[in-house]
Amino acid sequence: MRSMTRHFLTDLDLGPEELDRVLNLAAWMKQRPYAVKALAGPQTAAVIFDKTSTRTRFSFSAGIAALGGHPEVINPGDSQLGHKESIADTAGVLERVVSLIIWRTYAQSGLEEMAEHSQVPVINALTDDYHPCQLLADLLTVREHKGRLSGLKLAYLGDAANNMANSYLLAGANAGMDVRVAGPQGHLPQERIIRAAEDRAAVTGGKVTVTTDPDTALGGADVVATDTWISMGQEDQKSQRMTLFGDYQLNARSLSQADENAVVLHCLPAYRGAEITAEVLDGPQSVVWDEAENRLHAQKALMAWLLVESGLADETTAQLVREGEQR
Ligand code: CP
Repeated sequence: MRSMTRHFLTDLDLGPEELDRVLNLAAWMKQRPYAVKALAGPQTAAVIFDKTSTRTRFSFSAGIAALGGHPEVINPGDSQLGHKESIADTAGVLERVVSLIIWRTYAQSGLEEMAEHSQVPVINALTDDYHPCQLLADLLTVREHKGRLSGLKLAYLGDAANNMANSYLLAGANAGMDVRVAGPQGHLPQERIIRAAEDRAAVTGGKVTVTTDPDTALGGADVVATDTWISMGQEDQKSQRMTLFGDYQLNARSLSQADENAVVLHCLPAYRGAEITAEVLDGPQSVVWDEAENRLHAQKALMAWLLVESGLADETTAQLVREGEQR
């Protein structure tokens, strides 16, 4: 069974066609919120946080309950994991008692180690490197507002070396989008991330641009995104980072460089007056509340899909998932 278990550790753990199927399923399940009971029993899903959360915690808890399951939420420091017990031993225990492991942690390598030792699907609920569940919600939101993903121009401004920038590059390329990422010198994505995005874009017909010029990224964009300039653990660098990223603020002037019908994304929490102005975040082009709600729908689809693909769902769930994933 171990070899067929599907995990979701990075944005590229779904192939382009699989991404389309999961987004189809999310849209289908959004219209039928309690139809798919992939965790009936109730089966338990472990939802483990090494960092704080609002959206991820509530969307996974609500989604697991709607799938007929029970979320066991572990707050930072509440388990033996990482200080009294190894990741491998924790995985060895959890795979015997839960059906899914959802983990927000620091090092991507830790998440990979958990997956290596787990026969149940492991889902990345944010690491220092990626936030792929957020991108599923973002892509679902863009599809709802624009009717498609392939060929759309997506601009991301700000800290271009953080997990959101990495995930925009990978997920956008996976969806065949023209992804432009802009940030100051020294705060651009690592070469390995750019190469991975370019490789995927070569398959999907997407495009990847990394630049220090915000207007190059924004020109004619259909989707404009940003994220906090002060990620978890960087609070002591606040004043330097406010200066460093000042030219990359998403405000009325910068948004005017994008297409007039561009939609604005922010994964939240947002800092009005820092990376984004209140005028833009609360303005008519903002779709951030749809984006936040879509965490629920996208993650429900992902959980059901991974269980089916891993051979861990019953026949009724498998049939519903196969029906829902068709566009
Ligand atoms: N966007 C996001 O992941 O929010 P939380 O940190 O509140 O979970």
